[in-house]
Amino acid sequence: MVEGLTTSTPPQVFLSPRNHGIARDLAGRFPNARICGSNQEVLDHTTAVLIAVRPQVVRDVLAELTFRPDHVVVSAVAGVALADLRDRSRRPGGSSPQAKPLRRHDGTLDQLAAEHMTPGGVNEQYRTALREAGVPGHLAHGLDAVLARLTTQ
Ligand SMILES: NC(=O)c1ccc[n+]([C@@H]2O[C@H](COP(=O)([O-])OP(=O)(O)OC[C@H]3O[C@@H](n4cnc5c(N)ncnc54)[C@H](OP(=O)(O)O)[C@@H]3O)[C@@H](O)[C@H]2O)c1
Repeated sequence: MVEGLTTSTPPQVFLSPRNHGIARDLAGRFPNARICGSNQEVLDHTTAVLIAVRPQVVRDVLAELTFRPDHVVVSAVAGVALADLRDRSRRPGGSSPQAKPLRRHDGTLDQLAAEHMTPGGVNEQYRTALREAGVPGHLAHGLDAVLARLTTQ
């Protein structure tokens, strides 16, 4: 994401110090990125906050932070509802920052895939190969079996 953000007019990026290796690598490669002393310091320097931790730790991570009403929180965290995220990033006794999912798509999976593939490119080639090998059918079958097991226990 930092790489993708670093266009010809790169925004300043404030990094969590949590994973030293990743943070140091990014700060070394991108002059617009710098490592903060804490997650709270990241919030204190910016209005746009990207949350990209694993779902099982997001509640604890957010609980330690104090958000401002002008923060815009973008979440990449899978499976955590936007309303939940908004509630958990509320200031005590105050209003919530704006919470946004990374991206919402109302079309079909096929439409979504088509929008992210260059016609004739390698992604399209790979999807065609998977389809020809019958992979989507096997995947659907396996996932249906897992869902059935999870919903009948
Ligand atoms: N990978 C994808 O393509 C993708 C796509 C869509 C959505 N997502 C979602 O994005 C989230 C991250 O996925 P990922 O694949 O990038 O997982 P990941 O490789 O495990 O990265 C999670 C990062 O969060 C860091 N972290 C843990 N606790 C933290 C804390 N208290 N403060 C700051 N950072 C902390 C971890 O640092 P440590 O290594 O030090 O623990 C790690 O660098 C997940 O919720 C996932 O569902 C991922």
